Amino acid sequence: MAQVIAVVNQKGGVGKTTTSVNLSVFLAALGKFVLLIDLDPQANATSGLGINHSAADKGIYEVLSGELRFRDIIKSTVQEGLRIAPATVSLAGAGVELVGVENRENRLASAIQEVRGAYDYIIIDCPPSLGLLTINGLVASDKVLIPVQAEYYALEGLGQLISTINLVKENIKSELEVLGAVLTMFDKRNKLSGEVMQELYKYFPDKIFRSIIPRSVRLAEAPSYGKSILHYDSNSKGARAYERLARELLDLEI
Ligand SMILES: Nc1ncnc2c1ncn2[C@@H]1O[C@H](COP(=O)(O)OP(=O)(O)OP(=O)(O)O)[C@@H](O)[C@H]1O
Ligand SMILES: [Mg+2]
Repeated sequence: MAQVIAVVNQKGGVGKTTTSVNLSVFLAALGKFVLLIDLDPQANATSGLGINHSAADKGIYEVLSGELRFRDIIKSTVQEGLRIAPATVSLAGAGVELVGVENRENRLASAIQEVRGAYDYIIIDCPPSLGLLTINGLVASDKVLIPVQAEYYALEGLGQLISTINLVKENIKSELEVLGAVLTMFDKRNKLSGEVMQELYKYFPDKIFRSIIPRSVRLAEAPSYGKSILHYDSNSKGARAYERLARELLDLEI
């Protein structure tokens, strides 16, 4: 049965998608079967893996609405072992449309049962909000991975994120656990990054990944070519960092 990991932070631009895509690619490259679910209407994980998503295409929205099943929308990627459940623009309306629907927080959790047996890991790239899509992501998951950008305001909102995770735990999914925080866009020349690290330890005393993701132009460039860092520049420091993160995750043996 797959371990389902939601990549969540309601703060925008902290590296959720970069982490979801590259962690998924390296887990697959290390021999695991991985499904990446793009749960963000921006569809950055989808386009970042070079998947074309025209308005006519079907994606995770149709799964949430019950119109299609996972097997109808899953696509293969250039990385052996990695598949993607793409997002399309229709997903932008899902938050509103699901509001009146029964079991609206459980839509993804129910649908995911069908594919859990076929993968080792299912990684969910969540949008930058704590709205219904992210709640669906959390309820469908076993673990939460929280990318935190190494910058001054990065810790703002972490309290709210942790309360939301606790609410989901108390009311819907008692097994949900924080897997850990990953520091992203770390610049060792910047003294601030060290301070953010110290503060972060207060939020996640023993749950910070040792693998730290450096700020790297190559990581930022890769999505514009529709490539993961492994396929764009496998020798870059960003690639090595995400490979270390993937190995660290595997070492946890969850
Ligand atoms: N380690 C890094 N070094 C340099 N640039 C990075 C790094 N990680 C991410 N970026 C860039 O920063 C921007 C935001 O990253 P990303 O899209 O992964 O964040 P996000 O949290 O998914 O954003 P959103 O909240 O909009 O979904 C992107 O342009 C990305 O290419
Ligand atoms: Mg994103």
